[in-house]
Order: sequence, then C-alpha cells, then structure tokens
Amino acid sequence: MKRRARARHAGRSFIPFCVPFTNDREIREVSEAIRSGWLTTGPKVALFEERVRRLVGARHAVALNSCTAALHLGLAAAGVGPGDEVITTPYTFAATGEAILYLGARPVFADIDPETLNIDPSAVARAITRRTKAIVPVHIAGLSCDLPSLLSIAGKRRIPVIEDAAHALGTELAGRPIGSWSDITCFSFYATKNLTCGEGGMVMTEDRRIADRVRRLSLHGLSRDAWRRYSRAGRWRYDVLEMGYKYNMTDVAAAIGLVQLSKFRTMQAVRRRLARRYSALLAGCDAFDLPREEGDTVHAWHLYVLRLRAGVLRMGRDALIEALRRRGIGTSMHFLPLHLHSLYRRTFGYRRGSFPHTERESSRAISLPLYPGLDARAQDRVIEAIVDLVRRHRR
Ligand SMILES: Cc1ncc(COP(=O)(O)O)c(C=O)c1O
Repeated sequence: MKRRARARHAGRSFIPFCVPFTNDREIREVSEAIRSGWLTTGPKVALFEERVRRLVGARHAVALNSCTAALHLGLAAAGVGPGDEVITTPYTFAATGEAILYLGARPVFADIDPETLNIDPSAVARAITRRTKAIVPVHIAGLSCDLPSLLSIAGKRRIPVIEDAAHALGTELAGRPIGSWSDITCFSFYATKNLTCGEGGMVMTEDRRIADRVRRLSLHGLSRDAWRRYSRAGRWRYDVLEMGYKYNMTDVAAAIGLVQLSKFRTMQAVRRRLARRYSALLAGCDAFDLPREEGDTVHAWHLYVLRLRAGVLRMGRDALIEALRRRGIGTSMHFLPLHLHSLYRRTFGYRRGSFPHTERESSRAISLPLYPGLDARAQDRVIEAIVDLVRRHRR
C-alpha cells in the first residue's frame, strides 16, 4: 500500500469479522443463574430446549455443550459405528468430519453444487454403498441444502439423514424451518453463531428414542441427570446404562441462550438487511460472484461469502484478505477443503483434484463481516475498501 493510503487507514478503528450481539440483559440473566445456585444442567436448560424446539417445530430437543457433541451423539444414536461409511461434504468445518471419526466410521465425501456451496444430491447418490450408514449435509452459510432430493435418495435406502445445521438456525425451506425436516438436526450456539450461548449445541429429532439416547449419552450414560438427582423431586440413586460422554449444557450457558432467543427475530432481520445491502452495493462490481437467496428458502445469513472471479484482478483471494486487514477490516474464509487437510490426506489418501468444485470455490471464497452490531457506516467502510482495492488492482 502507498504511504499516503496507509496513513489514511491507520487511524481508523478495526472492524472485526464477528462480534456477538450481547448486552446487559445477558449479564443479568447469567448473574441470576449464578445467584440461583444452580450452575449446571437444570431449569434454564429445560426452558431453552423447549423454546428452541418450538421455534423450529421439532418434537424433541436435547441441549448439549457444542454442535460437535450434537453431531457425535446424533450419529451414535443413528447407529453409526466402526467400519461404517458416512457421506458428507468436503466443504465444511473440521467438526463435521471429526464427529464421524469419533465413532470409528469413515467420512466419504461428495462434492458440492458450485452455485450454492452445498452438497450435491447427485454426488451423494453416486457415493452410496452397502456400508453407508448416514448422510450428513451441511447448510453452508445458512442457505438450505436441497433437502427434498437428499431425503428422497436417503429414504429409498432407509439411510438416516443427520443435518449439520451449525449455520442454519433461522433457515427455512418451502416454509418449513430447518430442524423439523429430517431424522436428526444439529445446531451450534458457538460464540460466532447467529444465536450464541458462548458454547453450546442442540439435537432436534422427531423420535423420542433418539432423544432419550442422546440425553443419556450426553451424561456418562447415566439413568438420571443432575436435575433429576439433586432437585427436591430428585432421587439420588442412578445406574450407568452404557458408556457415555460429558456433553451436557450448563444453566449458565442456557441463560445467555434464552436472552438471545428473545431477540432472535430482530437479530435475523438485521442480518438479512445487511446481507441485502452488501448485495445491492456490490451488484455493479464485476470482480465477484455474490451469494444468492434461492426462491423458496429463508437464508439465515450466518455468513456473507463473496467469490472472487478469475482473471479480473491482479491480486488473489489471500492478498485481498491481507489488504483488507491492513485497511482495518477483518474477514474470514469458509472453508478450506476438509479432504486436503493433513489428517485426511494421510488417513484416506485424498489429494488435490479429488473434489474439484469444492477446491475451486474454496480457493476464491472470502467471508465479509456480518453481525447485528455492524452499523451502516462500518458496512460502508467495508464496501469502500473492496471497491477501492478492485479499482487499484484491476488487470
Ligand atoms: C459447519 C459446522 N459444523 C459444526 C461446527 C461445530 O460447532 P461447535 O463449535 O458448536 O461444536 C461448526 C462450527 O463452527 C461449523 O461451522
């Protein structure tokens, strides 16, 4: 960057990629949870489960301490075990593949539709074998996958679908919220997510047996959780029914989640407005492909992912991220192809070229700041910086 331009940007504050939308209300609710004396899984978790369940129209909800835990237990409850194959997308975060590996199963990747970045149902159909025990689609950025096609492919072979909906609280397809579509849906309430508990996750299911199993596995396989042992109505005796894990959500985390839920509709409306404003202001810029809202979906706008068009600029995606950082703008990148990480290359022999759509789209993706606290002036700065960089670095 030229000296004068650097000086112009130096004095301006940094616009982070993501900031949670929390205020005094979350602080009050957390204080109240602590004062109540009940810190771990208790009444606030039960209320949070009930409210998320109603929001997405699912029959059962089990709160956990992460979406990774939700995926792990969802897959376990679906019967996935050693030697099984689970089909998922390589365009995803580490957690999706890891949950499959925890169970000794093999992640089998199916490439994406380059338009939507979501798993391509026809690639899923081609990847099915006799060993396929589950399909795990991911709703990238908050745009729904083609669930009708995926459920039809899976249904014909009685293969359970376990949705990785870490980005998709608030997503709808054909008027139905994600969380009410398939056998099991897993949400994330991680710090950067549209609704946060700091850390947290939830399994939604229509099947009571799956809900009971996930709940049991989330607390050492015990027959009773703490609330059912230590509250006035509880009984102290318990039995270890099977080997479980320590994945339960705390009341302190649920206290944050309950406040976030009460403003979720407003937060989503702001995200939508900001996303549409990005699209309107960047519509005339020929350097990028912009994210689309599909006709019959409600996009949750967890991420706003631009894709750099080949051949327009003299700078690549990584240089663009760095140039924006130097101008005080935080961005991110979702996702590096999972199959190209060392673990997957080493264990399964994947290499460059295995999933061309994923590799190409990943190499040109950049996620812009998008959160309810981002005001129009900050967003204008992001746009101005991008437009200016495009002007300066045009071929
Ligand atoms: C697609 C996807 N799946 C799963 C996860 C894991 O969520 P958690 O951090 O709640 O375990 C993430 C987190 O960023 C994610 O992006």
